[in-house]
Amino acid sequence: MELIPASLYEAAGGAATIDRLVDEFYMRVAVDPVLSPLFPEDFTLIRRKQKAFLTQFFGGPAKYAEEFGAPMMRFRHLRFAITPTHQTAWLHCMSEAMDAVGLSGELRRVMFDRLTLTAGHMVNTPAEE
Ligand code: HEM
Repeated sequence: MELIPASLYEAAGGAATIDRLVDEFYMRVAVDPVLSPLFPEDFTLIRRKQKAFLTQFFGGPAKYAEEFGAPMMRFRHLRFAITPTHQTAWLHCMSEAMDAVGLSGELRRVMFDRLTLTAGHMVNTPAEE
């Protein structure tokens, strides 16, 4: 019998996939006209944090909590005015990154659905007029 992966993290290919996904994601964020103004020029730290976070978000080891404490992601985003436009741009970059690393089918759909829910939760500012 095929082994059933313990988590989405493992099903997706573990650390190697998360590393590539996050690298592809921030390459796109860095040149996205809506998102790039929110981020620092140097993505080194944010890449490291996001790799740790998505590892635990998808059911892998609790790397983010170990190194950075309780996620409290909505709270950590409150210092930025995040609108539905930012949410759409974030999810667009993530969707392209998922395609770039070859995630597909049901696994990709489930992972993207979870990210979509969380992205909605980060919105803290109404749409611009
Ligand atoms: C909805 C649109 C989103 C926008 C515009 C956004 C933007 C940002 C910005 C500007 C930062 C801070 C970068 C810095 O350190 O200077 C950040 C941090 C972070 N974001 Fe987002 N984000 C969004 C959604 C998400 C989602 C959906 C997740 C996770 C699934 C996420 C995970 C993180 C993590 C892990 C950090 C690092 C937190 C820390 O330890 O400081 N973000 N985000």
